Amino acid sequence: MTRRFAHALVIGASSGIGEALARHLASEGTRVALVARRGERLAEIAGDINRAAGEERALTFAHDVCHRDEVPVLLQEIARALGGLDLVIYSSGVGHPVSFTEYSTDKDVDMIEVNLLGAMAWLNPTAERFWRLQQGTIVGIGSVAGDRGRSGAPAYNTSKAALHTYLEALRNRVGRRGVKVVTVKPGFVDTPMVADFKNLPMVVSADRAAAIILRKAGRGVSTAYVPARWRLVSLVVRSIPSFIFKYLKV
Ligand SMILES: NC(=O)c1ccc[n+]([C@@H]2O[C@H](COP(=O)([O-])OP(=O)(O)OC[C@H]3O[C@@H](n4cnc5c(N)ncnc54)[C@H](OP(=O)(O)O)[C@@H]3O)[C@@H](O)[C@H]2O)c1
Repeated sequence: MTRRFAHALVIGASSGIGEALARHLASEGTRVALVARRGERLAEIAGDINRAAGEERALTFAHDVCHRDEVPVLLQEIARALGGLDLVIYSSGVGHPVSFTEYSTDKDVDMIEVNLLGAMAWLNPTAERFWRLQQGTIVGIGSVAGDRGRSGAPAYNTSKAALHTYLEALRNRVGRRGVKVVTVKPGFVDTPMVADFKNLPMVVSADRAAAIILRKAGRGVSTAYVPARWRLVSLVVRSIPSFIFKYLKV
């Protein structure tokens, strides 16, 4: 298997898409740092990876992305421990279920903190570092949910739409120094985040999603729908006039 990246950091690596990305990267020979709150879960995943590789290929760093002041020092520590850094993936995310008549500021704030502010806290110093080095790839895991304001998940949609805009702006800054910024918009992926949702359409495994994301990251594309057919779905959804869309309970 060809190694696309030598040293990678995955934030949100203890579960779902982030875990699958870390495992894929390590299986290609990439040295990878795993970040999330659940240190014991990270240690289990790193143990699997290192046993399979026969060497220390995965390192773990327990961290809550709401502790934004810790990030600059932790990023430096991780780059030093890995021996370099050429790929940073932000996959941490929460999607609290809200009922149609529920307005919970606490849930909304948590989604903005983890899905958006945590991403900015990690990707700002990453962008500065990659700008200085004139190389590197940044991947942000957004969602097709950010392409439209659906009545079912106002704050989740907002967090992802804002993340997409932030990533585009980042790309327009650091792109001129050769740094790639990839906005990933998955459809439904079979992970603990959606475990309680029934009858979701076009679901793919986290493993399949990770393989597609790494292929797109290797090419340095600007926006990747995962899998690609969600681009067409999103186009259709974005074309529905507001006076109809507002009646759809999605
Ligand atoms: N699954 C889908 O259908 C789907 C579709 C579109 C987009 N996405 C996006 O894909 C990304 C990954 O989601 P997933 O489906 O893989 O969900 P998941 O299995 O629930 O994983 C979420 C990850 O986020 C981490 N996380 C949550 N809060 C955190 C915090 N405060 N600090 C640090 N890490 C935190 C979790 O680690 P700890 O709990 O250990 O901290 C975990 O590693 C998310 O951004 C999600 O919005 C998912």
